Amino acid sequence: MARPEGKDSLNQIVNINSTWGIGRDGDLLCHIPEDMRFFKDMTLGKTVIMGRKTLESLPGGKPLPGRRNIVLTRALDKSLLQASASDPAKSPDSFADEHCADKACKDEDTELLYAKDIDMLFSLLPDDSSQVFVIGGESIYRLLLPFCDTFYVTKNDCPLEADTFYPDLDAEPGIELVCKSETRLHKDIHYSFLKYQRSAP
Ligand SMILES: NC(=O)c1ccc[n+]([C@@H]2O[C@H](COP(=O)([O-])OP(=O)(O)OC[C@H]3O[C@@H](n4cnc5c(N)ncnc54)[C@H](OP(=O)(O)O)[C@@H]3O)[C@@H](O)[C@H]2O)c1
Repeated sequence: MARPEGKDSLNQIVNINSTWGIGRDGDLLCHIPEDMRFFKDMTLGKTVIMGRKTLESLPGGKPLPGRRNIVLTRALDKSLLQASASDPAKSPDSFADEHCADKACKDEDTELLYAKDIDMLFSLLPDDSSQVFVIGGESIYRLLLPFCDTFYVTKNDCPLEADTFYPDLDAEPGIELVCKSETRLHKDIHYSFLKYQRSAP
């Protein structure tokens, strides 16, 4: 599918292990507080795109507070179209809030929208695609890869075997690693922050 005019250069943000694994049994492989803070800082006040299963994987199945949440599902019905965010109290960011002094999230800045396909999704996006982050899971990362130019990847060495995977960006033509942080340690998990960029066509 061609990139819609003005709706390109979306961002992706993901946490992977050394096999490019991203999840297992509907949950993340590991929770690293600094990575959760990074995720929150990058996405707060912006639009996030996720698959229906990722929404359901969030505690309480609630959208992320302080963000415009767009959820892809083929099972779009009237009740979903009328759905709106109400109680963001049990979002993953609550975990970060408990563990780190961080920015507050306001209920009134939280929005939940649904899209049944890419066309509908793009009709809901703001003009400024730098404000849009694809946040998973596997099917949505893969679906939207061609529309994304910047990829924020937190890489860790969590040994758990994954059942969902991120595309191997090192093998992806036209996408290159542009920066990598030093390695950090949380408990027994080493991790680092990587940034990949699509090179000009
Ligand atoms: N490590 C990370 O950074 C990270 C981030 C996010 C998620 N995850 C993990 O990823 C896993 C979930 O990934 P997943 O691939 O199984 O599920 P997913 O991508 O979150 O959601 C899949 C659902 O999205 C909808 N969908 C997919 N393609 C669509 C399309 N073209 N048009 C409309 N709707 C579409 C469908 O919903 P319907 O069935 O309702 O039609 C599909 O069942 C979980 O373990 C989660 O914890 C990890």
